[in-house]
Amino acid sequence: MTLPTINPTKTKAWKQLLKQAEEARHWNMRQLFAEDPDRARAFSLQHGDIYFDYSKNLITSKTLQTLLALAEQTHVADGIKAMFSGAAINQTENRSVLHVALRHFGKDPIKSNGKDVMPEVKAVLKKMKNFCQAVHSGKHVGYTGKKIKSIVNIGIGGSDLGPLMVTEALKPYKIKGIETYFVSNVDGTHIAETLKKVNPETTLFLVASKTFTTQETMTNAHTAREWFLKKAKEEKHIAKHFVALSTNAAAVKEFGIDTKNMFEFWDWVGGRYSLWSAIGLSIALTIGYDNFEELLRGAHDVDIHFKKTSFEKNIPVIMALVGLWNTTFLGAQSEAILPYDQYLHRFAAYFQQGNMESNGKSVDRNGKRVTYQTGPIIWGEPGTNGQHAFYQLIHQGTELIPCDFIAPAQTHNPIGDHHAKLLSNFFAQTEALMNGKTLAEVKAELKKQGLDSKAIAKLAPFKVFEGNKPTNSFLIKKITPFTLGQLIALYEHKIFVQGIIFNIFSFDQWGVELGKQLANKILPELQGDEEVTGHDSSTNALINMYKKMRQ
Ligand code: F6P
Repeated sequence: MTLPTINPTKTKAWKQLLKQAEEARHWNMRQLFAEDPDRARAFSLQHGDIYFDYSKNLITSKTLQTLLALAEQTHVADGIKAMFSGAAINQTENRSVLHVALRHFGKDPIKSNGKDVMPEVKAVLKKMKNFCQAVHSGKHVGYTGKKIKSIVNIGIGGSDLGPLMVTEALKPYKIKGIETYFVSNVDGTHIAETLKKVNPETTLFLVASKTFTTQETMTNAHTAREWFLKKAKEEKHIAKHFVALSTNAAAVKEFGIDTKNMFEFWDWVGGRYSLWSAIGLSIALTIGYDNFEELLRGAHDVDIHFKKTSFEKNIPVIMALVGLWNTTFLGAQSEAILPYDQYLHRFAAYFQQGNMESNGKSVDRNGKRVTYQTGPIIWGEPGTNGQHAFYQLIHQGTELIPCDFIAPAQTHNPIGDHHAKLLSNFFAQTEALMNGKTLAEVKAELKKQGLDSKAIAKLAPFKVFEGNKPTNSFLIKKITPFTLGQLIALYEHKIFVQGIIFNIFSFDQWGVELGKQLANKILPELQGDEEVTGHDSSTNALINMYKKMRQ
């Protein structure tokens, strides 16, 4: 089973959508709401404790029907089937894409290459559970017999962003007595500042790397090892303080970590989809294994929803279609993710990799350059902070920026009226972005404030808000391990659906290779004082200037 290779621009639905996009330039969301009192109900979905409202988009039911037709004509359903069946849909690397197996709680097998992966998945989860219990209970102690107090996860990209985002998001579930740190950057500052905070006798290092060859991670891991041995002296103590989370047993062994202390995962787990695997050990150690399992269960719940729900009620499919409408058809180049929850402050950063490394592609599944816009730029910060920083541009700038607003109805920190104030902003922003403020409204407001007609005429244009800005709202009862697992899986599947429609391969990332290769070439050139001449004149000059400046 391979993925369909349909050029989406050749479908009937695509052509219809192009036409509708032309018409949509004259649509007004205020009017759409006025014309249909049932609009919010018609364009919203609920799944468990997640309410998803996409009514504040420039869509009509005709747009939606055509977008659904596009999903049908590009065979999205076959793509979903292919992924869940374990087919090697990451074709450029000849790999299955089975992060869904990592959170599978059904009894049915999931096969990759004809082999059921579930027994191995369950075995690693059991090993993680036992390890967490041993660390938390004090059975697994440091080399001087002291309880483990600090976890340092050393990894980058998918081996960092997911666990970091989740441990931040689920801070209220943190196990007492454990502090978790993440080191990713090869800038020595990151590891140096982290090591200042921990004690070798009570620190557990998780070296998290799918390949176990990533320069940043291996450099940081070697530095941590040296730092540890300086105090612990004997190599035999490494076993109690270093574990590996990887697919590469040979490299783990070579680094000096006993493979007994390795938590395995497999090449069918994409790096940016790996928080559900052994890469999630830092999560399980931070919030407890049971909560980690709840996270997996939440994601599994959405996997079932995604697999079984008809497309018009399928939240990730609708997220994908509405996103595609805003970007590929209406011309938005980026999407902002704006969580109104401080604990979710790394959520946008996480999906920067999730989305941009997956769908930042320009060659289709037939090996041809695409002629349409694929994955958007993803960015965002928590509200209300963003309101005082970049919302100005979203409200009144020249770029169209569709936004996802995410908020929990219940807070983990009910202090005074903080949460009501936070949520009033959450509701107000999408309303303001949709409604805007017309010139007539601005003039009336200024008149009420007592300005004369000359002053009003001068000031009014600057105070007009065009409105008509597309937003989605996700209202979640409470951010728990389960609902967070659901939310992450919704976004993962959104990316998947868009990748199928774009006719691109979402699960490789060849685009990160060139920079890595060149850095490896440049690294030896930085030694010594000889002038470097082998690059373009700009790169030569920069390197030579660096050599002068570093002295
Ligand atoms: O550079 C890109 C990448 O390969 C990501 O896809 C991955 O998440 C990250 O590097 C880290 O890779 P690894 O887990 O193999 O160290």
